Amino acid sequence: MSYYKVTHSEGLFGEVEIQGSKNSVLPIIAATILNSGQTIIKNCPRISDVDNMIKILSALGANCRFEKNILVVDTSQINKNMITDNAVSRIRSSVIFMGALAGRFGSARITYPGGCNIGERKIDAHLDAFSQLGFGVTENENIYVEGRITEDKNVNLKVKSVGATENAIISSVLSDGRKIVINNAVKEPEIVSLCEALNKMGADIKGAGTSRIEIVGVRKLHDSEIEICPDRIVAGTYIAALCGVGGSITIKNIGSDYDKAILENFYKLGVNYKFYGNELDLKCAKIRRPLEEITVSTAVYPGFPTDMQSQLMAVMTTRAVKGIIVENIFENRFTNVLMLKKMGASIAVVSDKIAFISGVTSLKGCSVEAPDLRSGAALCIAGLMAEGVTKIYNPHYILRGYEHIDEDFRKLSAKVEYMEE
Ligand code: EPU
Repeated sequence: MSYYKVTHSEGLFGEVEIQGSKNSVLPIIAATILNSGQTIIKNCPRISDVDNMIKILSALGANCRFEKNILVVDTSQINKNMITDNAVSRIRSSVIFMGALAGRFGSARITYPGGCNIGERKIDAHLDAFSQLGFGVTENENIYVEGRITEDKNVNLKVKSVGATENAIISSVLSDGRKIVINNAVKEPEIVSLCEALNKMGADIKGAGTSRIEIVGVRKLHDSEIEICPDRIVAGTYIAALCGVGGSITIKNIGSDYDKAILENFYKLGVNYKFYGNELDLKCAKIRRPLEEITVSTAVYPGFPTDMQSQLMAVMTTRAVKGIIVENIFENRFTNVLMLKKMGASIAVVSDKIAFISGVTSLKGCSVEAPDLRSGAALCIAGLMAEGVTKIYNPHYILRGYEHIDEDFRKLSAKVEYMEE
């Protein structure tokens, strides 16, 4: 059985480069279907979620190959619009293939998507967006989306949803002269990077990063090269770890407009930061008085991301006297509480939205199981903070989104090893 062995850290020191963004590349991989040709995706993270997207594309008839971190996708030979591959139930982003297949072929048939067990993860807003665009939608054991966009459309997304925004955009791109307006779109950087990629492929999309996105449909896309941006959640995970154990680190390729909600909340917990061009220097004292009280609520961008909530909770267990977390996005995202408590944390979950953390002096290392991707990363942080050694089982969850969390932490002078028993 494999696990991550995490040894107590006396502080993080060193430099790290951040892998390409998972949540940026996954919809872009689905969107390659819109171009009946070759798309080159640079800085593509080698993670299992990407492998599953490639499996689905290959099952559809696409040709995909990796050269280090460059993914070359040729979708010209795709001859199916139906996905029943097991990989669909393993990954949430498979739902984005619906928009891509419907956009290119005028029909898509797919089994229900899976993903981390962090909430109900409905797809009603995706299907409603397809209906508003004029597609016919039928649900039984599979989902069928059929039709073409034949007139201008004004879509009002019924939920603030990253995936539904992506599906609405992707299914509209090839609408050949129609003007599509998508209202109530989310503003996440991953939406901006998807639209930039599609525009590079020949689409005409304006307004990404605002709640109103305008698309003028084009007839076809063309071959292009896309560069995936650094993963803000992976970077945030290392910032959280620094906050947990102290030290001084440099995050190298992060850009100068890194997520302010992440920086501001860890600043309150003692992390000082300064940008030098494309790099971010961060410092945090190892020994300091815990912050009296801090409340953090998750929200859509530009709010504090739900994907950083588990890591923040791990840090709060010793770095705040009283911490309150309000989880507003998913109903089942306090999955790491049991494991953190096993390590000595004092946490009371008072509803599926609210958790109270009472700071303790220290955590203690033990064997824990990662319950999902971000909770797994949070347990790595808790392991660095804890006395002794922590073994984190179920490493496959972490490998869904972190290319090499162990190597990255070693670059930052910590001892995190991938072990096989
Ligand atoms: N929702 C609905 N109906 C829908 C769609 C969503 O009610 O049709 C609800 C969800 O149940 C949830 C909320 O809306 O309560 C937000 O869900 P959203 O659709 O925005 O999430 P997603 O697209 O499934 C992406 C990321 C998640 C990230 C969320 C929120 C990808 C592949 N996944 O999921 O990333 O947490 O947005 O930012 O982009 C992760 O990386 O660990 C991860 C879970």
